[in-house]
Amino acid sequence: MKIQIMGAGALGCLYGYMLSKGGYEVVFVAKGEQYKALEEKGLRITGIEEDEIDVYVTNRPESSDLVFLTVKAYDTMNAAKMLRSVKFDAVCSLQNGVGNEEILARFFENVVGGVTTYGANIAEPGRIVYAGRGRTLIGNYRGEYAEAFYEVLSSSKVNVEVVDDINERIWEKAAINAVINPITAICRVRNGMIAEMQEIWEIAERTAIECEEILSRMGYEIDVRAMVRDVALKTSENRSSMLQDVEKGKKTEVEFINGAFVKMAEKFGINAVYNRILLNLVRGIELGVD
Ligand code: PAF
Repeated sequence: MKIQIMGAGALGCLYGYMLSKGGYEVVFVAKGEQYKALEEKGLRITGIEEDEIDVYVTNRPESSDLVFLTVKAYDTMNAAKMLRSVKFDAVCSLQNGVGNEEILARFFENVVGGVTTYGANIAEPGRIVYAGRGRTLIGNYRGEYAEAFYEVLSSSKVNVEVVDDINERIWEKAAINAVINPITAICRVRNGMIAEMQEIWEIAERTAIECEEILSRMGYEIDVRAMVRDVALKTSENRSSMLQDVEKGKKTEVEFINGAFVKMAEKFGINAVYNRILLNLVRGIELGVD
């Protein structure tokens, strides 16, 4: 079976690596320096596992059986348009943020949503640090392909589960990201500081309460405060993905995280003050200075 990883960044490479080890034929789709490094030197893994493998890498998607989408949320539309030109049975998003599956469902019949707490960072082009073995939840968004992705992931020893309401899990993960990511990016601190420093926790807690209120109006009763504390402590040494983007001067996924909460709040007539402030501050950081 041929599996394509559309967006072979840190997480995409980690999944591609695990699937290659699981015996699947894997196509890594990458761009820029990452594409060059993977083509010339293969993929090197450090951290929880140490390994080096040769990979098949392209800079355009190819036809395959299944596709995992691991691009940044702001690149989903572009990736979907590129994927339209090739053949495959189904696509599974393993991205951060809200709205990716909705975009994919506009183009494709079979869309599986997913969230993951596996941790990986790019150390340099072609080399990733496998930082944490997590859990991956997937579920049907459009069509019935979750079981097919489950087979591929579980046979590659990925810790995976199929859930009934993937939309709830996507919003739950987005709520955790809405608190941890912008605060760590603005304060330039590791995740642990969210729970460890009282002044930061006060803002984190307020933001979490706001997310809980919005989620509750959507019909989801989620203890965001407890989840944020737990994730912040369990990943205390991590630099959040948004902090990493900000440090590299790259665009962040804030529009698909806090932006999504602000938009949803507007629908319910809630003024999402904390999410709006964090969203606008990160937008300011993205603008940077000349
Ligand atoms: O985006 C991230 O960095 C991660 O989703 C999380 C859970 C905040 C851990 O760093």
